[in-house]
Amino acid sequence: MTRPAPVPLLDLGRQYTAIRDEVLAAIERVCSSQHYILGQEVESFEHELATFCEAAHAIGCASGTDAVWLALLAAGVSPGDEVITTPLSFFASASAVVRAGARPIFVDVDPHTLNLNPEQVEKYLRSRRSTHLRALLPVHLYGQCAGMDAFQRLADEFQLALVEDAAQAIGASWNGRRAGSMGVTAAFSFYPSKNLSAYGDAGIVTTNNSDFAERMRRLRNHGSPKRYLHEELGWNSRLDPIQAAVLRVKLPYVEKWNRRRREHAANYDRLLTQSGLTSASGDGPVRMLASAPQAHHVFHQYVIRVQRRDDLRQFLAERKIGTEVYYPIPLHRQPVFAYLGYSEGDLPEAEKAAHEVLALPMFPELNAEEQQWVVESVAEFYS
Ligand SMILES: Cc1ncc(COP(=O)(O)O)c(C=O)c1O
Repeated sequence: MTRPAPVPLLDLGRQYTAIRDEVLAAIERVCSSQHYILGQEVESFEHELATFCEAAHAIGCASGTDAVWLALLAAGVSPGDEVITTPLSFFASASAVVRAGARPIFVDVDPHTLNLNPEQVEKYLRSRRSTHLRALLPVHLYGQCAGMDAFQRLADEFQLALVEDAAQAIGASWNGRRAGSMGVTAAFSFYPSKNLSAYGDAGIVTTNNSDFAERMRRLRNHGSPKRYLHEELGWNSRLDPIQAAVLRVKLPYVEKWNRRRREHAANYDRLLTQSGLTSASGDGPVRMLASAPQAHHVFHQYVIRVQRRDDLRQFLAERKIGTEVYYPIPLHRQPVFAYLGYSEGDLPEAEKAAHEVLALPMFPELNAEEQQWVVESVAEFYS
């Protein structure tokens, strides 16, 4: 086929072109109001987002990282506690645990979905009774919810708080339940690359518990229930009203954008299968990840597992096809977590995945010609 222009991993410019007038009008609304800290714009977005996620409350904050931290604190995590999470996630899933004063416990992932594996978590819980374990923090990786019914059963049996890191999964669901409505608290990121993204940093926590919601409203505002009264140590992590206004413009589009992502994922699946790169026995150079039947996957990323990943990446880069590796170093092998005492080989599925995963271009405005070029290029590399 004729070679299309460069295919970026993500092109936010195409989205901006489509919504520019609405976005600029929303920013102008905030500037005209001269109201720059919390207030109506933030409250309206919190209400609209909570409704979207089928949760009772939403508390806006400064980033997804802060959202995970607030979600953990509200769920009762405190210094000396332990929190089970996945080794295959963005750093913030684990750093927020440490910032809450707790110790991350990494358990291996399911090789088919790369989400935290409930069977491994169960094995861990049955083999090591600890009085310090406080919470389970599954991450809905790449836009697919982790196995929430299994995690809920384990949380109930072992009396743990179930907290969702839903940073990558706005609009996803599990067994018909929306991401953000299943855990005691759930954290979202609006980092610019996310399916719902701000024009800067922003995050939110959802919960059905009104006491937790109140506490998080205080914590994001210096632990202050009213001006100059501080009951506990919080932080300045308020959601910026300009970001809230941008997010209010974008939220009504998220379902449509997620639908497009799902269509592109189905198209990649079909093209990769037709290309002969994937074999039923699984020994082809490319392996697709599985979507669980319970999951409504929103494809924040479309990730494949490939042989000779770094060479393929280089080959695609020479053709100006954008790719990314989420994540090249599993969290238990990060230098900053050396004190936790994990070694190479402790979590083999996550370690293997870190050598094989490759995210292909994925965003709602991607077109079929670009996808075809991406898959043809992958096929050419292995030919
Ligand atoms: C799974 C996960 N958790 C937490 C975060 C942190 O979000 P932020 O970058 O908005 O701080 C991110 C995103 O970057 C993420 O992907």
